[in-house]
Amino acid sequence: IASETVTITINDVEIAVPKGELIVESVKRLGLEIPIFCYHPRMKPVGMCRMCLVEVGFKQPDGSVRKMPKPQAGCTLPASDGMVIFTDSELVHRDRKGVLEFLLINHPLDCPICDRGGECPLQNNTIFYGPSTSRFIELKRHAHKAFPLSKHVTLDLERCIQCGRCVRFTEEISGDSELAFRFRGSDMQPSTFELRDFTSKFSGNVIEICPVGALTNREYRFRARPWDLETKGSVCTECSNGCNVWFDYRVGKLVRVNGRTNEAVNEEWTCDRGKFGSDWMNDAKRLTKPLLRAGDRLEETDWPKAYAEILRAFGGSRSGLLVGPRLSLEAMWLTRELFVDHFGSKNIDSRWTRHLLAPGEAGYGASAKTAIAAYDTKPTIFVFGTSLADEQPILFLRVRKAWFLNAAKVIVASDQETDVDSFAHLVLRYKPGTEAVLARALAGEDVEGAATETGVPADRIREAASLLGAGVPIVTSVSLFERETGVEAHAALSKLAQAKGAEFNCYASGANEQGALELGLVEDGQSLDTYAMLQAAAKGELDALWLAGCDPFSLCADRGLVQAALENVPFLVVQDSLQTESFGYASVVLPMAAPAEQDGSYVNMERRVQRILPVLNAPGEAKPGWKIAAEALMRSAPTRPVFSAEEVFAKLSASKAAFVGLSYNDLAGEGVLLG
Ligand code: SF4
Ligand code: SF4
Ligand code: FES
Repeated sequence: IASETVTITINDVEIAVPKGELIVESVKRLGLEIPIFCYHPRMKPVGMCRMCLVEVGFKQPDGSVRKMPKPQAGCTLPASDGMVIFTDSELVHRDRKGVLEFLLINHPLDCPICDRGGECPLQNNTIFYGPSTSRFIELKRHAHKAFPLSKHVTLDLERCIQCGRCVRFTEEISGDSELAFRFRGSDMQPSTFELRDFTSKFSGNVIEICPVGALTNREYRFRARPWDLETKGSVCTECSNGCNVWFDYRVGKLVRVNGRTNEAVNEEWTCDRGKFGSDWMNDAKRLTKPLLRAGDRLEETDWPKAYAEILRAFGGSRSGLLVGPRLSLEAMWLTRELFVDHFGSKNIDSRWTRHLLAPGEAGYGASAKTAIAAYDTKPTIFVFGTSLADEQPILFLRVRKAWFLNAAKVIVASDQETDVDSFAHLVLRYKPGTEAVLARALAGEDVEGAATETGVPADRIREAASLLGAGVPIVTSVSLFERETGVEAHAALSKLAQAKGAEFNCYASGANEQGALELGLVEDGQSLDTYAMLQAAAKGELDALWLAGCDPFSLCADRGLVQAALENVPFLVVQDSLQTESFGYASVVLPMAAPAEQDGSYVNMERRVQRILPVLNAPGEAKPGWKIAAEALMRSAPTRPVFSAEEVFAKLSASKAAFVGLSYNDLAGEGVLLG
């Protein structure tokens, strides 16, 4: 969008900036900084802390500059033509000292024992702009030092500078409004309503945006100081959104996860599942050695023996491979090669929902049309049959942003209350099991009958249908296939989108679930799918089953079937990072590196390929999934060895149309959206 520009002068340098841009942003164009506390570029400015004071003047016709009598807050001041800004004057420096002196009056100065020490904006601003001594000798305000706001977040009230960032985050970004200020003056404190638990699904972000050590991470508290941490960029694999994160580790153990900016994906946010759920990598149940069954026990063995046993057991159409969503593209591709080319079996599947789309069906594997960032500017969004905040947390934040900043009309159809309802323009609450009827009614099919059957008033169905037009994203998730009529609803939505020119998106939920579909792991027609494989195993019709990075007990709804399958299959390979429930049934256990312990690439739900580099060392003898497959391949037939994940990626991108021409070099930065 072309925007009008104005000319302003910053410290004697003239510069053209967009009209209305906040001065705190304009100075960045010259590589300058205005110190801030309460301002956050992704939230509305409030001018609460006064740290960003600048002198402001206006050019007069005679060329002189007439200054405003008082300094102004740079974070609330929009640029206008002829404005003259001074960020480095004596007055500005004096004011900054004054503001910091006020803020520090009641601050406990706990830096030596504060988690934020070493990376604290209050420390930094005090060192750069603050007074070197305090004139305050009176008693300071005292308050709770470690008030548990939730199981993840601790509040130290004495350290709070009342900037309101945390409160505004819950109002503007996550939308749960779980925090608010109570009391006034120096007693003002951020708090939950009636001191209830802070249950926001995005609570971890407030720890990162708090400019002092008032909000701290309960898991990380007192476990490290910033200067003894090592940090590497990675990608979260706790769901399919693929948020960019920093993994902070100390003596080889992950201690903290922070959001890393990727404007195309997560901006800078994370959800709590990713921020607090990635420490399974430190779990005592990590698998570190290959194991071989000896009677009713699993005994340690070495890799060559484990491979030899596997190669003896697998071969032909009575072998099966089930793939989990955390396996990298490279691991999936090579394991598939081992199965198809060397074991001669096409029984491979990566899908775990109660009902499955056949590989040939419309939408299978490529039903993500709208990129995450594109939601920012969508005027209408239709969410169908999914709880976005639980299944696609970062997409939920984008959809809410589209409503909050651009007044997007969000329509939500669901059989239960979801977080989207609070800002939805229209809620279609259908009776469980009637999703397909509603989807067809939206296309105009028997609206009155559908109203009776689904419980959604006919006028609402008609209004929703009238809002669906060209370019409107229709959002659902593969969890739709858990529902009895999910497959039918999917087909009806896909048809509806085609008829209206809308963008149909059936998003994956596992980290690399979309990647498995892109690779076409599931062969069309001639092979056994997940359930057929489990049923065959349960009936004793499968000789060997390989679980590559998956635990059917946690992924498959039919526990009875899983148990019968694992009990009856004569040979079971469990390739995983953790001891899972399936572990006890294994004939051979292969310890696998976690995603952050290996090189590999992942495709998120919007079809963005991102590379994950090794951050930590894999424990014991655990190996990356691609390496396990590469070594088994070499042992099964004389093949040219593969030495790196990059080589595997080159192989798969040469064979799979969706990845053609891509190399690891292209995956740097924001990753690559598949065409
Ligand atoms: Fe600001 Fe932190 Fe206090 Fe919240 S807890 S108001 S983010 S200083
Ligand atoms: Fe991880 Fe998904 Fe949460 Fe992002 S939204 S932090 S990818 S679990
Ligand atoms: Fe401007 Fe707080 S940063 S008033």
